[in-house]
Amino acid sequence: MSTTATASRRLVLILCILALPCISGIAVAAAAAAGDADAFLHCLETAAVPPQLVHTPGSPSYAATLVSSIRNLRFVAPATPLPLAIVAAAEAGHAQATRFAVLDLAALRNVRVDADRAVAWVGSGATLGELYYAVGAASRTLAFPAGICPTVGVGGHISGGGFGSLMRRYGLAADNVLDAVVVDADGRLLNSTTMGEDLFWAIRGGGGESFGVVLSWKLRLVCVPETVTVFTIRRRRNESASDLITKWQHISPSLPKNLYLRVVVQSKHAQFESLYLGRCGRLVRVMESRFPELGMTESDCEEITWIQSTVYFAFYSSSKPLELLLDRGTKPDRYFKAKSDYVQEPIPIHIWENTWTWLEDHDAGLLILDPYGGEMARVSPSATPFPHREGNLYNIQYYSFWFEHGEETLEKHLSWVRGLYDEMEPYVSKNPRTGYANYRDIDLGRNEIEGNVTSYTKGKVWGEKYFKGNFERLAAVKAMVDPDDFFRNEQSIPPLPAQQGWSSI
Ligand SMILES: *[C@@H]1O[C@H](CO)[C@@H](O)[C@H](O)[C@H]1NC(C)=O
Ligand SMILES: *[C@@H]1O[C@H](CO)[C@@H](O)[C@H](O)[C@H]1NC(C)=O
Ligand SMILES: *[C@@H]1O[C@H](CO)[C@@H](O)[C@H](O)[C@H]1NC(C)=O
Repeated sequence: MSTTATASRRLVLILCILALPCISGIAVAAAAAAGDADAFLHCLETAAVPPQLVHTPGSPSYAATLVSSIRNLRFVAPATPLPLAIVAAAEAGHAQATRFAVLDLAALRNVRVDADRAVAWVGSGATLGELYYAVGAASRTLAFPAGICPTVGVGGHISGGGFGSLMRRYGLAADNVLDAVVVDADGRLLNSTTMGEDLFWAIRGGGGESFGVVLSWKLRLVCVPETVTVFTIRRRRNESASDLITKWQHISPSLPKNLYLRVVVQSKHAQFESLYLGRCGRLVRVMESRFPELGMTESDCEEITWIQSTVYFAFYSSSKPLELLLDRGTKPDRYFKAKSDYVQEPIPIHIWENTWTWLEDHDAGLLILDPYGGEMARVSPSATPFPHREGNLYNIQYYSFWFEHGEETLEKHLSWVRGLYDEMEPYVSKNPRTGYANYRDIDLGRNEIEGNVTSYTKGKVWGEKYFKGNFERLAAVKAMVDPDDFFRNEQSIPPLPAQQGWSSI
């Protein structure tokens, strides 16, 4: 195997564990409120959840079920509290009956595509790969705009917005939700009509695990040409990579909407990765006029179908079998920590030069730069809870990963990613310094309980970083649909205190 192939394969392994904290298929129902185990199990029995679907720490199936949806080994470390029980729901009634446990939605992953109407229904427990596979099998000219990593769970991904290679043309996954089926805090089963406008707004970008359990989503599928074009160009630090990144910041958010060009910066190189909704010939002309410095030519092109492009971005090869999209993985293989930023003014070249010293010193770290603009800039920042629209050039994800267990390794990696993040502060969004809710970052703040519920004032600290002005409306919706704060975790939306009532509700 050539070194490039080895390097690419390594990059694949690195990138596609970006399943990140939107833990595939798991919704946490009131994890903080652990009650009495026996009473709980009895309650489930009377609620008719078959005993084989309830996994408790004593049962042999518990550990495997727990790790099957976890992508970050940090969440299986001894210090992480274990759920009292995992309920592997097989139908809506099991989710409606579940209280005080981790509800595993992995079995609720049916995908039904209606190609004639260009819609799909997908269970929250499906992965993006399973969704893409089903859409690709139904049509060569339909697609769904969502994230690049196929093992990411649909439920968490859509709940937090969900951006990917089609966002500049079609916006977020959440922008393309037509309906949803939700179990609310009272165990009722609701759809977009019966849940009301406010809750339907909140679940499309307000982050998972705050408002209810979304069991399934009705999605608008979007049109793509039968042939799309992809390329990957790698430039080393000593091949003007800093100049290229600097220029990329200026041009990538204003490229035609059907062209997505991201950058992955790692170790000693920057890798430019592109999806174009069109043919190679035109793409070469666009690149020649807008970004000649990259030196992209016809020989860089691969003309493939959209479904092959999902394999290409996930595994860096378009000739791999589509069935790879269906591989959910069964256990985590690494530890990681991610943080994110939004960039609103191009970052000066000397800062990029300085970034190489961070990356070269730390082999296990990388940056992903995802361009916005296009459709992302057209949607109003209050149309959904996801506020990062016009004015944002791109998103940075800082990502550190490692394989060895131990405090020292953990500290080393955390301080690397935090140190780089601190150093970038002057050059990224301010007041507040914003981040992407799906790249959950507990460093931004965590909830505190005041009285019986999560404090709104404390929640604002992290909440406005993910949701800006939409945080208050999210908290008002929370007060309306879950006033007792049944669905809560370190960064769930707190209920807005009554005296602060939100005007439009
Ligand atoms: C939502 O549920 C109601 C009540 O069950 C039903 O009458 C209605 O048709 C559903 N709406 C949609 C869009 O499915
Ligand atoms: C860049 O550096 C690599 C080794 O780090 C070297 O092999 C290569 O020749 C250099 N290229 C240029 C253009 O200097
Ligand atoms: C918290 O809940 C308990 C039990 O429901 C209730 O007795 C108590 O008054 C509540 N406290 C506050 C501050 O709301």
